[in-house]
Amino acid sequence: MSDTSPRATKAVIPAAGFATRFLPVTKAVPKELLPIVDKPVLQYIVEEAAAAGADDITLVTAPGKDAMVDYFDARADLDNALRAKKKDAMLAKVKAPESIAEITAIRQGGAKGLGHAVGRAASHVGDEPFAVLLGDEFYPLDDRLLPRMIDLQAETGGIVLALIEVPEDQVSRYGVAAVQATDDPDVVEVTGLVEKPAVEDAPSNLILIGRYVLPGSIFPVLDATGPGSGGEIQLTDAMDTMRAKGTPVHAVVFRGRRHDTGEPVAYLQTLVELASERDDLPGFNAWLREFSATLD
Ligand code: G1P
Repeated sequence: MSDTSPRATKAVIPAAGFATRFLPVTKAVPKELLPIVDKPVLQYIVEEAAAAGADDITLVTAPGKDAMVDYFDARADLDNALRAKKKDAMLAKVKAPESIAEITAIRQGGAKGLGHAVGRAASHVGDEPFAVLLGDEFYPLDDRLLPRMIDLQAETGGIVLALIEVPEDQVSRYGVAAVQATDDPDVVEVTGLVEKPAVEDAPSNLILIGRYVLPGSIFPVLDATGPGSGGEIQLTDAMDTMRAKGTPVHAVVFRGRRHDTGEPVAYLQTLVELASERDDLPGFNAWLREFSATLD
């Protein structure tokens, strides 16, 4: 493989959905701002992109979700109140989101699918490679999933995905990949992609998780992609079109911890797991042990 592509420094976070699985709270609070104790999911995601070097971020939003943009902006009244009370440690935490990344917000203009949402970032991204991070999952920085994907994309110039194995009966909820092994046990070549197939049509039990590194050349393909699964414009379909026309598609098979926050039970698991690892929540783990013992 040769150096055919610059390293992606831009990222797109599609965050325009209604989050029906969390209604009614998501009527007023974007799903992406649900807290992991005191830090919103979206901050973890923005930190993950920035840590991978993709700190020029386009957030694709929708009406009613402006709080996501406000969160990364300065709040003078709050800063002044904390300063006056000499709450310096809290002030530092409050101001941290302002400098993680450069955030540009763009409205999706209708719930027309993930492919449509990503396509809305075309004018900001241009023809450079870029990362896509879905807003309902995040990954420990130590696992370096996104940096590995960005490195691989810079080598191949093509599309780089992340896959995990799931039980066969769950494949219909996801994009699914057909793959071939490579010399690297953690990397596969993708030979086919299908969005939300019936179990019997799925080419494997390797599903796409919400991390992608894509070449800018996907934008005209997204424009030309018609509605697919669920009547929506699917990113998976545009990627498979490019693959069929010769764009190399590789995937990192991820075996680390996935912090899923896309549905209530997974969100609760992520919340409790990360809370239990903190040393500034005295008494939580002791309570958790006692409480677990009361469950049958
Ligand atoms: C989207 C993608 C799908 C992927 C999934 C990961 O689906 O279209 O290919 O497997 O994210 O969470 P959605 O969850 O938006 O239906």
